[in-house]
Amino acid sequence: MEFYSMMESTCTKILMIFVKNFLIFLKKGHKIISSSTLIPNSDQTLLFTNSGMNQFKNIFLGIDKPLFKRVATAQRCVRAGGKHNDLNNVGYTERHLTFFEMLGNFSFGDYFKNEAIQFAWELLTDVNWFNLSKNKLWVTVHNCDGESYDIWSNQIDIPNEHIVKIGSNTNDFCDSDNFWQMGNIGPCGPCSEIFYDRGDRFQGGPPGSLEEFGERYVEIWNLVFIQFDRQENGRLLSLPMLSVDTGMGLERITSILQGVNSNFSIDVFKKLISSISRIMKINDIYINRSVYVIADHIRACSFLIQDGVLPANEGRGYVLRRIIRRAILHGKKLGVNDIFFYKLVSPLIKYMQHIADILHEKKDFIAEILLSEEKLFQDTLKRGLELLEKQLIRLKGNCLNGEIAFNLYDTYGFPFELTQDVCLKRGIHVDQEGFDQAMLTQKKYTKELNKFDISYEKLSLCNVSSIFVGYDKLICKSRVMALFQNNKSINKIYTKEEGIVILNNTPFYGESGGQIGDCGQLNTISGFFQVSNTKKYGQTIGHLGIVNSGTISVGEEIVAQVDQHKRKCISLNHSATHLLRAALSQVLGSHVTQKGSLVNDRYLRFDFYHHATMTTTQMNTVENIVNEQIWKNAPITVDVMPIELARNSGAVILINKQYDKKVRVLKIGNFSTELCGGTHAEHTGEIGVFMITKECSIAAGIRRVEAVTNNVALSAIHQYKMLLKNIFQSTQSDDKNILSKIHEFKCRYQKLEKEIDTLRNQQIIQQSLSFIKDVYYIKDVRILVKQVVNMTSKTLFNMTDCIKHQLKSGVIVLINLNTNKKINLVVAVTKDLIERNRINALSLVHYIIKILGGKGGGRPDFAQAGINNMATTSKISIEVNSLLHNIL
Ligand code: SER
Repeated sequence: MEFYSMMESTCTKILMIFVKNFLIFLKKGHKIISSSTLIPNSDQTLLFTNSGMNQFKNIFLGIDKPLFKRVATAQRCVRAGGKHNDLNNVGYTERHLTFFEMLGNFSFGDYFKNEAIQFAWELLTDVNWFNLSKNKLWVTVHNCDGESYDIWSNQIDIPNEHIVKIGSNTNDFCDSDNFWQMGNIGPCGPCSEIFYDRGDRFQGGPPGSLEEFGERYVEIWNLVFIQFDRQENGRLLSLPMLSVDTGMGLERITSILQGVNSNFSIDVFKKLISSISRIMKINDIYINRSVYVIADHIRACSFLIQDGVLPANEGRGYVLRRIIRRAILHGKKLGVNDIFFYKLVSPLIKYMQHIADILHEKKDFIAEILLSEEKLFQDTLKRGLELLEKQLIRLKGNCLNGEIAFNLYDTYGFPFELTQDVCLKRGIHVDQEGFDQAMLTQKKYTKELNKFDISYEKLSLCNVSSIFVGYDKLICKSRVMALFQNNKSINKIYTKEEGIVILNNTPFYGESGGQIGDCGQLNTISGFFQVSNTKKYGQTIGHLGIVNSGTISVGEEIVAQVDQHKRKCISLNHSATHLLRAALSQVLGSHVTQKGSLVNDRYLRFDFYHHATMTTTQMNTVENIVNEQIWKNAPITVDVMPIELARNSGAVILINKQYDKKVRVLKIGNFSTELCGGTHAEHTGEIGVFMITKECSIAAGIRRVEAVTNNVALSAIHQYKMLLKNIFQSTQSDDKNILSKIHEFKCRYQKLEKEIDTLRNQQIIQQSLSFIKDVYYIKDVRILVKQVVNMTSKTLFNMTDCIKHQLKSGVIVLINLNTNKKINLVVAVTKDLIERNRINALSLVHYIIKILGGKGGGRPDFAQAGINNMATTSKISIEVNSLLHNIL
């Protein structure tokens, strides 16, 4: 009995549920495949991976061949944007999460409805597996799917009243809860959902009933029978094979098996939540749902960053930013105003081991990104609050204009809900309609702008396709297929005219993957075209340049020749970039993934995710590793293979990039394997030498390294040597004593500066004393108006100070003529006169500007002005004098 209850308790641990799910499908002949990342591979139609089937999309569509016909996965998913978006439900229901794991079994043209239903039933109800009571399970089927209905009804031990047929909400067969589609286009099909009845402690009715939206009947498993490919116009094309895609939320099934009411009460969430509440010093964690939101969001954010998303103002990065900010605002709701969110990465890893293990390596990086984003948001909030404050001071009435709230949100990132909160506390209403309207206008405007995104140039060129033959050849015969000038297709380009030449095949590499386009020449019998750049326009390669002599016409035969030297230098830098990437991840960690790159004939640039400045030792180690690989003279080889195979071969694949079905896998010895369409050296030895020339930050969490190779590296070394030699010569030093020499110079310089200062001050005192004789009175006030030449502002200030000291009481005006003929003046007034309201330096300066033009400012005891017009210093003296007479 004891053993049994122990088994019972371990069996309901999330890890055990996870394992059992895999065990049953292993037994049923499935291959267990790892989760893909949250950034859908080469699928531009999806924001984030939102279901287990995403990584198999092309298999369902019949584009890729499956390596296995039956597979099972536990897929990490984010539903925080796009068609399936749960962001705003999190914290308000017990069952929504932005990040969750989806257990799934898949059949690619193998089993269909029958086995899918049988397998699901067995896992859920068999005593050896989840052992759920059959009476508590309900299922739904599409009302057009008689086949599924019959299977449930005739082959499964479930009462008929627990099988519910659900139709579509409109005439459209797809518009039903029992029709699943990945997005607006792509694989889809009818589905059968399994629900669990949590009993009458909860409100709500069975699926399909009017009360279905309560919390009593919870959907636990969705079995999708993929048979169609939905087109953009809504049409359903039948797929060549029938497949199965099932999905069961791990957290949700765990909550059922652990007999708790909510996802947030399952074992792992409970521990995470208590740890969060300790860190945030909150007590009433089970009353306040904000802590649920935070627990959910730290999972979503950590995994998004892990998979390569960084906070940004658009796309995936924008959604991540929104989730982070939402978590922080919920922190504020809990009364936590200090920075906290980044601290939650550690407990996440600790308590969610079964999935969070993969976060280990990038732990610091993730925390760093969250911290900097949180700091940024705090600044935004502070600035937003100040601006809102200013608006509220000016406010007439008790309604804040929606456009103002929108401006705060749009320009300063200040959340609308916060504007509402602040206003609410002061009894001010915020015009939500105005806000929504401004938002709508903005969206329309952005849409309009985006319309112009596709350049006319691209549109007009994309129908002609060109074959690139330049991996092996740098010269070849070809034919002119089209010519373009000023975005227009033409037949001939004449001498000295610029244009774009399209060939049927070309050895010229079109700028892509960070590598710049080739230069070179195109020669026909009658003309010579100098190519200054090559670009890709879809399938078309365009040669940009100028006809140097003769003409170039459509249809002519041509000899295309790439600038060999330049190409060689580019290729060396490209191969070195691959070495650099591999060395960086060896030295800094596997989180070093590419953010961008540039490879040209002079240098290479590599941008990557990393949170800290590289130390000199790290840079030296990277240089050493790359150079060692160069000196090994390892072969650089290319294999063309299907993308799936490349993925399994462990090649570095960029997450955000769209790849063709067949890809080039570039291998450098045993050191680096990456997908790459660029051109390369044949052996690493050709690179000669590699040297880093710069390391800097380009954005939060993103570093840039620049480097040179071969003869450019050698000339850089020569330049450094020359520079050192010049320094040695002019400082009469050598490599042993240069540092102590510099130190000596610095000390001498500081000493001399001090001496000069003392002398200058003595001089100022002398000169100032000599001015005293020119002091005169206006009424009882002592006045000194003096013209001086070429004084710095500091000297003028010191002089007035010195004279003030002598005068004890009085007004001093120094009018200074600079070498560049500009006049500026300073006014100083002693304290007693200010206190007696006799005169004030600032108002005197204002009067002067009014009369003479210019700009100025200062304090009552000292002010200055620059005079605009061409007045002479003596004219200004006269004006100042008469002003003083008037004022005093
Ligand atoms: N694709 C289906 C879903 O996400 C089943 O996995 O619900």
